[in-house]
Amino acid sequence: MASTLIDNIGQLVTNDPTLGDASPLGIVSSPALVIVDGKVAAITDAAAAPACDTRIDAAGRCVIPGFVDSHTHMVFAGDRSAEFSARMSGQPYAAGGINITVEATRHASDAALLAGARALVAEALRTGTTTVEIKSGYGLSVADEVRLLNVAGRLTSEVTFMGAHVIPHGISADDYVDLVCGQMLAESAPLARWIDVFCEQGAFTLEQSERILRAGASAGLGLRIHANQLRHSGAVRLACDLGAASADHCTHLDNADIDALAQSSTVATLLPATEFATRSNYPRARDLIDAGATVALASNCNPGSSYTTSMPFVIALAVREMRMTAAEALWSATRGGAAALRRDDIGVLTPGSRADYAILDAPRHDYLAYRPGVQLVASASVTSASA
Ligand code: NIG
Repeated sequence: MASTLIDNIGQLVTNDPTLGDASPLGIVSSPALVIVDGKVAAITDAAAAPACDTRIDAAGRCVIPGFVDSHTHMVFAGDRSAEFSARMSGQPYAAGGINITVEATRHASDAALLAGARALVAEALRTGTTTVEIKSGYGLSVADEVRLLNVAGRLTSEVTFMGAHVIPHGISADDYVDLVCGQMLAESAPLARWIDVFCEQGAFTLEQSERILRAGASAGLGLRIHANQLRHSGAVRLACDLGAASADHCTHLDNADIDALAQSSTVATLLPATEFATRSNYPRARDLIDAGATVALASNCNPGSSYTTSMPFVIALAVREMRMTAAEALWSATRGGAAALRRDDIGVLTPGSRADYAILDAPRHDYLAYRPGVQLVASASVTSASA
């Protein structure tokens, strides 16, 4: 039995509204956190804390649940910085760039792909991310998708099969959808927890997306959708109708989409680093929250539309550009991400939860948006306790 005491905490964000100030963040002032075998054992007064094997002095700083980044494409090879630069000079973002990364990824060794993705996961941890979801989607052949899923599975349990990212060169759309729903899904499903589809002009139509998602559900996978990223479509409504865990991007929403999300169990996962890097309008986060939808924030780390792992950067954008409060943004980046992954053991620090946490170099959580662009995470820890 290994035990750790974190004491001298200035502000502890638990995300448990039954604790502390009873807000959604469940903020407890000046507590000690007791961790036993990788799980939170107690939140208590320092004076009442038991003796532990290890003591961490938080020195009056803020402790938060580690960020849950529920949307990334971290397994890839190649470089698309020139595409970013061209975009900043006025070129629009288009789905077609994905095939450039597919080409480079197919030529990369498993070891190179693993090293690249591992470096990104480590980079994310340095800015407080303790859980990442990772999608395939830059292989787009049966063998390459399996390769990418195996790499992702070395780094996280939240693995998503995304053979339906775009239609690769050299195959018709119909044949490719047949392949995704057939042999590719059969070989990929045992390696993944989720299936995702890019429902977009230049990628997959609404009908193709529905067929792929239904096939994934029949194979036992949970559903996620890249929805309404580049234009308004029926993808958000499809996500809600199919009971998807998450509709991601949600950049172009009408009021009916917002109502549908608010009345469903589908989380709206917003990816504002994408709007930043593609110079697009930001999603209607304020309207979603005011309507009662559950909102998550994620990085969308990928080489094309959002090459960042930084959830503090995402939070700063959400507050400045999408008018989320600092508290809402932190909740969405932690407990919201967990909801998008249908998890209740992460994104929260409460007795029995996993003890995945970050110590901020700040007395209060709102410094995350108040001090953008600085390294505000002093340390972050991922438990080795099993889920
Ligand atoms: O979520 N939209 C589809 N997939 C990624 C972009 C991938 C790429 O451009 O390489 C996204 O933005």
